[in-house]
Amino acid sequence: MTIKRRKFIQQSVAGTAMASTGLWACQPATNDEIPAAVVPQSSGTMPLVIATWDNFEATQAAAKVLEKGGSALDAVEAGARVPEADPNDLSVGLGGLPDIKGVVTLDACIMDDLGNAGAVCFLQGIKHPISVARKVMEQTSHVMLSGQGALEFALEQGFVEENLLTVSSKKHWEEWLKDQKPFGETNFENHDTIGILALDAQGNISGACTTSGMAFKLHGRVGDSPIIGAGMYVDNEVGGACATGVGEYVMKTLGSFLIVELMRQGKSPQEACEEAIKRIVKRQPKLYREYEVGYLAINKSGVYGAYGTEKGFEYTLYQDGENNKYPAEHFLKS
Ligand code: GLY
Repeated sequence: MTIKRRKFIQQSVAGTAMASTGLWACQPATNDEIPAAVVPQSSGTMPLVIATWDNFEATQAAAKVLEKGGSALDAVEAGARVPEADPNDLSVGLGGLPDIKGVVTLDACIMDDLGNAGAVCFLQGIKHPISVARKVMEQTSHVMLSGQGALEFALEQGFVEENLLTVSSKKHWEEWLKDQKPFGETNFENHDTIGILALDAQGNISGACTTSGMAFKLHGRVGDSPIIGAGMYVDNEVGGACATGVGEYVMKTLGSFLIVELMRQGKSPQEACEEAIKRIVKRQPKLYREYEVGYLAINKSGVYGAYGTEKGFEYTLYQDGENNKYPAEHFLKS
């Protein structure tokens, strides 16, 4: 694939002089200037699916796609749709905990092996934001649609609007209201976002991320999950990464992009996840102890990594025909 970039000369005395004479030098860069990925040496196996938290049925649904020779893209979408449809999952799709006003607002993004990306944020009334994100990627020239525009687009694409606030999630919200913190104070109570990455039998990687976001958040708040490079990122030349936890920390360090770039430079998925968590620790030396972030990463060889700020982050892995949940390594040791 040819990658086109423009190299602009720096604004300088010389540059200004050239501009005044109409001699701006805008030269296409060569592919040689784009750093080549370091091909990982360690051996893993494919196909592989990995998802944040205890998402056995999600990885199973994704694995089913891969076992039939399906694409990583189809696999991650199939996987993400499982918790989205589950009314008992309080942090994703139907039944997700609402914002401060009692409104369920959903964020999601998806990326394929060609570098295409789609996302929706602040979407209401549609159970499967991941599939709307995929439609954005495949049916439009945009990457992200938000709020009412995203809903209108989803309806045009044939999605059905429904009430996502279940009896149970409404009850949680009503209980929280009785004891609510002052308006505007951040609430970090619920953030079990699903991030899912897959490597298919053809060696291609895709990723998805979907969430109802932080429980009882301010109306209008959007987290990391729909932000390409924050909640999830894939570069099929290198690998993929995804995040769960407090989106504000992930966004401020562009965690998933950071992990993929660290892998490009030669770090293993595990080393890259650890480095990204340490970046948060450095930026939030006190707060990171209170609020959790977890990262997953995979590379082209089928090697994976998982790391969280604290004990408790877990992931589900499908590899070598087995689908199991594992605890992740973590930064805080006590
Ligand atoms: N990681 C999900 C969120 O903060 O919205």
